[in-house]
Amino acid sequence: MTAITFPITFKVLACEEVAAPVTLIDWTIDSLATEEVLVRVSHASINASDPIIQKRNIFRLTPPYVLGYDLSGTVVAEGQANPNDDIEVGSFVFGAVGISGGCFGEYVKVKRTSVALRPDNATVSDAQAAAYGVAYLCAYSSLMIVDDISKRAGQWAYVVGGGGGVGHFAVQLCKAYGLKVVASASKPEALELLKSLGVDAVVDYSTQDVVAEVFAATNGKGADFVYNSTCVDATFKQSALVVASGGSWVRLGAWMLSAPGLVDEITEIVKKRGAEAKSPSVAGFEPSAGLKTVIRLHKEGNIVPHISKIVPFEAAAVQEALDNFGKANAGKVVVKIM
Ligand SMILES: NC(=O)c1ccc[n+]([C@@H]2O[C@H](COP(=O)([O-])OP(=O)(O)OC[C@H]3O[C@@H](n4cnc5c(N)ncnc54)[C@H](OP(=O)(O)O)[C@@H]3O)[C@@H](O)[C@H]2O)c1
Repeated sequence: MTAITFPITFKVLACEEVAAPVTLIDWTIDSLATEEVLVRVSHASINASDPIIQKRNIFRLTPPYVLGYDLSGTVVAEGQANPNDDIEVGSFVFGAVGISGGCFGEYVKVKRTSVALRPDNATVSDAQAAAYGVAYLCAYSSLMIVDDISKRAGQWAYVVGGGGGVGHFAVQLCKAYGLKVVASASKPEALELLKSLGVDAVVDYSTQDVVAEVFAATNGKGADFVYNSTCVDATFKQSALVVASGGSWVRLGAWMLSAPGLVDEITEIVKKRGAEAKSPSVAGFEPSAGLKTVIRLHKEGNIVPHISKIVPFEAAAVQEALDNFGKANAGKVVVKIM
């Protein structure tokens, strides 16, 4: 592989102003910090956060800024020679970058602890590798670190919005660890996806009584493990009402984004049910640890990202995917960069 010399200039899809559509512009990286590698991006995937950051710049990035938090691609330069890991120039890696984003570009710099080696293209495709990223790591940290579903084999899980990016990974983790799963969705593709994942009871929340359906599926007991990654206030009470005594109710995301008073109301409901309410904190958590577990689960056939669409690295196509995020797709939408 030809050695990269810095500075390197390449193309990115950037938000030149907050809420402006993405445009193709030149971008330059001058150097790498010792803990970073430079990755030539093969694929990136879109998360719910991308359109939010584009429209509201919640991370207060300085325009122009580049969206894209998940990637797969080839390491082309290292900030530090011979560090103590298995990543080197030429390695094909996948993972998730921090809040500065940048994966909607031909190259991105990323902390080496934020990526892991992808075994081979036949096992995990370049697009699949990019589809894991933030969504899988959110599901992993919620289910394996905040709670520990490996101790819940045979119990019931209720995954709210199980056809979404985070939700479909949560459903598959639950199935992989032997839980019985009831999951909700409304979009036809999401409902079909849940059936194809072997979910024991699928609830269409737009037409069915969710609380009644979860109690019916669990023989009146409720779900021992409830996972809510929707960030939709209207779902919290419903899902809290169905947690079983002795169980856990876990939500993804910050309470500060919810209506005032909701946290107290939900905590009270969960407590009355004799269960515990938990929220993930990923502080101190190294993404590469979670990414290594997914390789094993993927090889075993226990987890596969559902990619509903692959869009080209073109401003109009990516903007359309950002504008339509969550409206039509189930699972993940991926951008093919190079
Ligand atoms: N670190 C974090 O805190 C963090 C990280 C990543 C993501 N997030 C947040 O997590 C949320 C989910 O992300 P994602 O990538 O999984 O988004 P997504 O792919 O759009 O999935 C959202 C899911 O929520 C479901 N849903 C919406 N309203 C519902 C309702 N009333 N009842 C049940 N399900 C409902 C949708 O189901 P249908 O489409 O079938 O109706 C959809 O499957 C986003 O808000 C995102 O910002 C937070």
